[in-house]
Amino acid sequence: MSSNSPYQAILDQLTVDEKTQLLTGAAWFSTVAVERAGINTVVMSDGPHGIRLQEHESLDMGSARQATCFPPAVGLGSSWDPELAVRVGTALGEECRVEGIHVLLGPGINIKRSPLCGRNFEYFSEDPYISGQMGAAWVNGLQSQGVGASLKHFAVNNQETFRMTTSANIDARPLHEIYLRAFAHVIKTAKPWTVMCSYNRINGVYASQNEWLLNTMLREKWGYEGILVSDWGAVVSRTEALKAGLDLEMPGPSHGPVELHQAVLAGELDEAFLDRSALRMIALAALADKMPALDKYDADAHHALAREVASRSAVLLKNDGDVLPLDPAASQTIAVIGEFARTPRYQGDGSSRVTPTKLDNALDAITAAAPNAEVKFAPGFIINGGGPEGEVLRQEAVELAKTADVVLAFLGLSGEDESEGFDREHADIRVEQRDLLKDLVAVNKKVVLVLSNGAMVTLSGWTEGTAAILETWLLGQAGGSATADIIFGQANPSGRLTETIPVRFEDTPSYINFPGDYDEARYGEGIFVGYRYYDAINLNVSYPFGYGLSYSSFSYENVKVTSNATGVQVSLDVRNTSSRDGREVVQVYVGALGSRVSRAPKELRAFKSVPVAAGGVASVTLEIPREELGYFDPLLNEWTVEGLTYRVYVGSSSRDIHATADVEVVGDAFTPPLSLSSTLGQWFDNPRARQALEEVLAKHPGTPGQGKVLPEVGTVIFKMMAGFRVNQLLPFMKLDVPKDELDAAVIKANQQ
Ligand code: BGC
Repeated sequence: MSSNSPYQAILDQLTVDEKTQLLTGAAWFSTVAVERAGINTVVMSDGPHGIRLQEHESLDMGSARQATCFPPAVGLGSSWDPELAVRVGTALGEECRVEGIHVLLGPGINIKRSPLCGRNFEYFSEDPYISGQMGAAWVNGLQSQGVGASLKHFAVNNQETFRMTTSANIDARPLHEIYLRAFAHVIKTAKPWTVMCSYNRINGVYASQNEWLLNTMLREKWGYEGILVSDWGAVVSRTEALKAGLDLEMPGPSHGPVELHQAVLAGELDEAFLDRSALRMIALAALADKMPALDKYDADAHHALAREVASRSAVLLKNDGDVLPLDPAASQTIAVIGEFARTPRYQGDGSSRVTPTKLDNALDAITAAAPNAEVKFAPGFIINGGGPEGEVLRQEAVELAKTADVVLAFLGLSGEDESEGFDREHADIRVEQRDLLKDLVAVNKKVVLVLSNGAMVTLSGWTEGTAAILETWLLGQAGGSATADIIFGQANPSGRLTETIPVRFEDTPSYINFPGDYDEARYGEGIFVGYRYYDAINLNVSYPFGYGLSYSSFSYENVKVTSNATGVQVSLDVRNTSSRDGREVVQVYVGALGSRVSRAPKELRAFKSVPVAAGGVASVTLEIPREELGYFDPLLNEWTVEGLTYRVYVGSSSRDIHATADVEVVGDAFTPPLSLSSTLGQWFDNPRARQALEEVLAKHPGTPGQGKVLPEVGTVIFKMMAGFRVNQLLPFMKLDVPKDELDAAVIKANQQ
């Protein structure tokens, strides 16, 4: 088979054996080179928030070369700033160029379906819109350096329990509207060099050999032309995977080439499949060849960027009486309590674990930032345990808190509490730490809680007495200094929640379905993930999606909302009504009023992080493309936009709305295909179909009064009959209508 590919001539030189070799890794993180054909190896590395380049191949995740550890996606996502993600991606790209890495294995953009997922720290949000925006920006930054991304994990990979075998059993609407949406956006707009398929099954079929997912959706619908790589070890049948469109099996070497070769010889695999994927691999190697080498990167500059990003990632949840920021010049006693201040939890465990170039801790940074203060430290607890020793530490910390002007309590989750490979069983931090906090607030009125955790923890019932809460997630290697920057006002918090913090873990939408039974996970909450659910059932939450405080205050002025054929336009002025420079994240949500299908009350459709100088005004414009208003219709098997009134909400969080406006949007034609298995009601909803059916029935009149004619539309009896299939109803009415007449009516009904 010959193609228009510029690499066809190279492919033509390859033997079947060489082609099969190209489609499997040479080693854990590299592909096979075919020197005589000029095809070089492609080197890959984890990813995503820093490079994990291992010195030797093993499952020992801690043995990587040093690299900058930026805040993981949980932090970066909380910045709500795609421009920041571009800068991080660019810096990562520079480091890759220095290390000779052609493809960095990220970003991870899976949806945080449950707070329990062990890898939530590697993902951006419970919402697909922000996940897609941040993911695309990250890819654009990285690929601007001539280094490829690997968008992962494709798809519907939202838990670690049974991650190698579980089937995400999911309906069409959540599949498209929640779980594939961000992938579609990144693929169409940022064109990642590679996409990594996930381990799990989707509705019973392994992602790695899911023809519908890999070929129909990714390649045909979204026009993806890059490489599809397996997650490490995700291939089940190499032949089936190749047929379904999976180009590269990782890691290698594996039995894959032999299996493929044998399948070709046995006539079970058309060599054209090898050619298709081998051509793509040659194209990838050619791209990799063009990566511009770099001698070195500026590690200090990258550390400074990591610090800036970290200060933008933390979310200030509470700040009673403006306890924060602390005055760095004041002479006061600051009690820093909690082992995490000295031993920071700054990244998650598993394949993304980076060996940082340096590591800041908050205790040192606080001590340095407040020269006139007396900073005293007490560990307060042992990170992974309690016991008598922990009790001694608790008492010592409480004594210290009694004497301090302010207490900074550093609590959080440990690497044993959450990690790649397993899910949590609850959303609490350890009881010793919760009890410690209760003791601290009993003896000191100014307790600032600083949390480090990769996934959401519930806060209700133990944090009430605190003066302030700073949720720092996992902040990367410069998180300690960034935290001090926020505490002393060098940085003004602007992070916003990308995941809701519910009052109780039991409130979470997937609570009764997560993680499923054995290897079957039912996505029973459908599209109602995260805030979509809490809003739909009008449930109180501790902190809503999009929420986060600032040391500044803002007002929204001149909000204008218009709509036209291309979409919805929003403009406004944001005024900083404080004396401190700050940043506001303007969020636009849209709800469809009176939709034909179930919809969330409102969904995030646009946002912008805007710097506003003290006392200044920033003009903001946001555009929502018309197609963003659509939903995936299971009858049409397509996205469609309804002609409706849409309510546009402009605010500072999903529950802090400053202005609403209604706009009319012209809809797409809605004519779902009809068959004789469609219901009478569906036929009657479509005027042409109704007419076609009535014409047929008129030719074969039944006996009135004996249930042999259709009842009047609108009557109770009609409503009862409306749910019948047409091919069920007619025999029921003892109407003998010839099949060819009915078939002709179907054709008429479906005419556009
Ligand atoms: C993880 C991927 C990672 C790969 C290579 C897998 O277990 O799921 O995210 O990129 O290993 O380390």
